[in-house]
Amino acid sequence: MTRPKVAIIGAGQVGATTAWNLARTNLADIALVDIVEGLAQGKALDMMHASALEHLTVTVEGSTDYAAIRESRIVVVTAGLARKPGMTREDLLKANAEIVRPIVEQVVRHAPQAILIMVTNPLDVMTYLAYTATGWERSRVLGMAGVLDGARFAYGIAQRLGVAPDQVAPMVLGTHGDTMVCLPRHTTVNGKRLTDLLPPDDVAALVQRTRDAGAEIVALLKAGSAFYAPGSSVVAMVRAILQNAQTAMTASAILTGEYGCHGIALGVPVRLGATGLAEIIQIDLTSEERQALQAAAATVQSGLQALGLVGAKKS
Ligand code: NAI
Ligand code: 2OP
Repeated sequence: MTRPKVAIIGAGQVGATTAWNLARTNLADIALVDIVEGLAQGKALDMMHASALEHLTVTVEGSTDYAAIRESRIVVVTAGLARKPGMTREDLLKANAEIVRPIVEQVVRHAPQAILIMVTNPLDVMTYLAYTATGWERSRVLGMAGVLDGARFAYGIAQRLGVAPDQVAPMVLGTHGDTMVCLPRHTTVNGKRLTDLLPPDDVAALVQRTRDAGAEIVALLKAGSAFYAPGSSVVAMVRAILQNAQTAMTASAILTGEYGCHGIALGVPVRLGATGLAEIIQIDLTSEERQALQAAAATVQSGLQALGLVGAKKS
């Protein structure tokens, strides 16, 4: 059986970290593409030099040429800018839309059967942009953020309760931003609801720290943003797809009525398998939780409006 190929566009912090984590699973050959001459090639060669040490059986090929992504099962898009001082979210939105749109066109041309995982921020808007630019069915266009936000929530909870992070089953929906919707009522620790384990103020503090986690890392690093946990989060999604695991996780998905939302991408609970999105899982929400999700949807809607993408649905 031929080994699947996964392409990663953008060989910066998140792209290269994703490539490295994925290479070490030995699940797929990797094509790493960047616009900067030598960057993807150099990082790919560096990873290949570790083959004997890490027992790698896969290849990592770096390129500036999109021909390298031919026949990829999955394409991950990490190319783009992070917010710089003086830049509004809308500036970032427009700058990244200009980067992402032509990339997605190249993906359609060279890997027309692929499943696309967007990472570039603002994540939910870029995911919807990719959906409209590909014209693909919604099952093949996803965004990564919920896995990361959930992992951050799980880490905070584990620290607070003194348990292992993997004993926490987090539930974080909404946008990858200020309108993130952490759901303590649906978050469990060894099967027990978080809301039964901690007082409301403690839960609220953990929720706030999760929402601010990206900014907390930016403030510490002073240049650039998080990449280790984002890289692991992308690999979790890639693994679920390559192994047809039908794993439940949160991902940004195109909504066509679920949770009362239409014509946007938003973080919701999904199951991922060989064809990409296998199911959007409907969970019960209180009216307060529903309102929070509606506020998240409105944020994405206004981003889409700024890009002239409202009503631009193709399916
Ligand atoms: P980075 O600056 O380290 O890497 C970006 C890479 O994209 C650079 O190597 C650059 O040369 C490349 N690039 C730019 N334009 C390109 C083009 N047209 N074609 C190919 N490559 C191109 O940035 P980093 O830290 O890797 O972050 C990348 C993006 O991911 C940012 O938008 C960031 O905000 C976002 N991000 C999203 C997360 C999520 O949870 N969804 C988590 C972490 C980052
Ligand atoms: C993060 O949450 C910047 O989206 C990135 O770390």
